[in-house]
Amino acid sequence: IKNIGVFTSGGDAPGMNAAIRSVVRTALHYDIQVTGIMKGFEGLITGDFMPMNSKSVANIIQRGGTILKTGRSDAFLTKEGRQIAYDNLVRNNIDALVAIGGEGTFKGANIFAKEFNVPIVGMPGTIDNDLIGTDHTIGYDTATNTVINAVDKIRDTAESHDRLFIVEVMGRDSGLIALRSGIGVGAEAILIPESKTDVEVLFNTLSSGRKDKASKIIIVAEGEEIGGFEIAELVKEKFPNYDTRLSILGHIQRGGRPSCADRVLASRLGVAAVEALLNGKKCMMVGLMNQNVVYTHFDNAIKHLSEADPNLLKIVRILS
Ligand code: F6P
Repeated sequence: IKNIGVFTSGGDAPGMNAAIRSVVRTALHYDIQVTGIMKGFEGLITGDFMPMNSKSVANIIQRGGTILKTGRSDAFLTKEGRQIAYDNLVRNNIDALVAIGGEGTFKGANIFAKEFNVPIVGMPGTIDNDLIGTDHTIGYDTATNTVINAVDKIRDTAESHDRLFIVEVMGRDSGLIALRSGIGVGAEAILIPESKTDVEVLFNTLSSGRKDKASKIIIVAEGEEIGGFEIAELVKEKFPNYDTRLSILGHIQRGGRPSCADRVLASRLGVAAVEALLNGKKCMMVGLMNQNVVYTHFDNAIKHLSEADPNLLKIVRILS
């Protein structure tokens, strides 16, 4: 391998810049050239490439977003689009790729790698933490910290007004942001797509909860079947004496300076990704499990966890 292309794709995540920096500097360490590909798969098709050196990634480890920009590409879903992408790689002498992203990114990378026999290694970059083969994805720690910082503020005002807040957090198919941050803020209830929402159970939790507590927080994952808005309406109807408000945190969760945990994770996985390519690995995501680097085939990395950790759910029940 003489030239590795690196790109970020799908939703951005804090720590993606630290990941790019690590890939670039590790490749240079092994005397391999690096090419930055702009806007994910879109840039592969348009040929938006730039050679990268050590300086190109200076002073970015602490920055949110991604200097390579990101996107979701419809053209890459077509065979013609992928052919153009492959021709661009050949023309620019790029012989391997590091793809930083989540499920959609690895799906696309998997098809492309098999179609044209391109060595591709993936790094898990998504706030959702919904990939198999890594304890945490890059961005998850920062995003959950953003949520608890925001909900702590909501708790202040909720407590002052004796209010109940429904707070909707991100996670299109996964309740992991909701579960972790919900425990972190001492939520009264956490509603996630992995377990069916029983509105009666929620009502019981709310009416049987501690009477001395002035405020109540219900965390709802974006992918939960009923949705924050509807839950708020149902709660208002059932408990007209509660002063209920809805707050949707939205994209604030995707931005901001990465936490130390995300910077270190991204740095470790960037080294592992380049070394994996040098060791002949392909179609694998690098991850960190129990502090060890592990490799998971794209086919398995993108499988969804259908169940939430019962231990965490138990903690919520005991502590709320
Ligand atoms: O995959 C990360 C994520 O933030 C999801 O939690 C969310 O549903 C989605 O991206 C939002 O995507 P977009 O920014 O394209 O609306």
